[in-house]
Amino acid sequence: MITGAASGIGRSLARRLSRHGSPVIIADVDENGLEETAASLKGPVLSRVLDVRDADDVQRFAKEVQAWLDLPLAAVFNNAGVATSTTVLNSVPEDDSWLFDINYWGVVNGTRAFLPQLVKQNYGVIVNTSSVYGLVGMPKNSAYCAAKFAVRGFTDSLRQELRGTGVSAVTVHPGGIKTNIIRNARIHSDPDGQGRTLAQMAADFDKIALTTPDKAAEIIHRGVERGKARILVGPDAYVFDALARIAPTHYFTVMARLFDR
Ligand SMILES: NC(=O)c1ccc[n+]([C@@H]2O[C@H](COP(=O)([O-])OP(=O)(O)OC[C@H]3O[C@@H](n4cnc5c(N)ncnc54)[C@H](O)[C@@H]3O)[C@@H](O)[C@H]2O)c1
Repeated sequence: MITGAASGIGRSLARRLSRHGSPVIIADVDENGLEETAASLKGPVLSRVLDVRDADDVQRFAKEVQAWLDLPLAAVFNNAGVATSTTVLNSVPEDDSWLFDINYWGVVNGTRAFLPQLVKQNYGVIVNTSSVYGLVGMPKNSAYCAAKFAVRGFTDSLRQELRGTGVSAVTVHPGGIKTNIIRNARIHSDPDGQGRTLAQMAADFDKIALTTPDKAAEIIHRGVERGKARILVGPDAYVFDALARIAPTHYFTVMARLFDR
C-alpha cells in the first residue's frame, strides 16, 4: 500500500512493485493523477482517493484493503507529503498546520490504521518517508524539517517497540528527487528574494535534484528487501547524513561553503 501514489516517488514505487509481480494498493488525494498511475500498472491494483489527514477514512480504507487482498499485506508506504518554504518570521500558521497534518499526522494515521493487520500477521513492514531535512535543520524550512524530524522520531520509536516481532519499521530519507514536490508546494513568494514564480522555482529545483523518482523507488525497494532500518536515497543524502554526524552544530556553515565553491 502506497500513499501519495499519484505522482513522484509514490507513483514510481507503485510501478516498480507492480512490475515485480506485487498487487498494489494506491492512494492519493489527487484523483486524476491516481487514475494515471493505475492505468500504467499491468497487475492487480486497488485505487482509492484518500486524504491522509482524515484518520477515520484511513481506518475505513485499511478495512477495505484487508477485504480486497487475499495475501498478507507486505508493506505500507506512508509516502504522501507536501512542502512549504518561508522564514519563521514570515511563516503562515495555516500552511504550517496543513503541512504538519499531511507530513506528520498523515504518517501516524497510516501507521495506526495498518499496524494491527501487520501485527496480527506477524509479518510486514511500515515504511515512513522522512527526508534529509529530517536529519538537519535548514533555513526557510522550519515546518518541513519539524514534521520530517517528527516522522523519524515516531518511526524510530515504533521500530524499538517491534523488536523481536516479524514486523519492522523503516525510515526513508530522500535527498533531492526530481518530482512535483515544489509544483505542489505552498510558497507565496520566492524565499530567496529573486522574485521567481513557483514554476521557475520548480525548474531550478529540477536542476539541482540529483535523483529521478524511478531511481528513488529502486533504492527504497532494495533497502526494504534487505531489511534496512533507515534508507538514504541519493548521493546528496549521504553527504547530509555525514555532515549531521561530523559537524552537528556547524553543518550549515560547511554546506554554505560547499555551495559557494
Ligand atoms: N522530492 C524530493 O526532493 C523529496 C525529498 C525528501 C523527501 N521527500 C518526500 O517524499 C514524499 C513524496 O514526495 P514527492 O517528492 O514524490 O512529491 P510529489 O508532489 O510528486 O508527490 C506527493 C504526492 O502526495 C500527494 N498528497 C499530498 N497531500 C495529500 C493528502 N493530504 N493525502 C493524500 N495524498 C496527498 C500529492 O497529491 C502527490 O501525488 C513526500 O513525503 C516528500 O516530503 C521528497
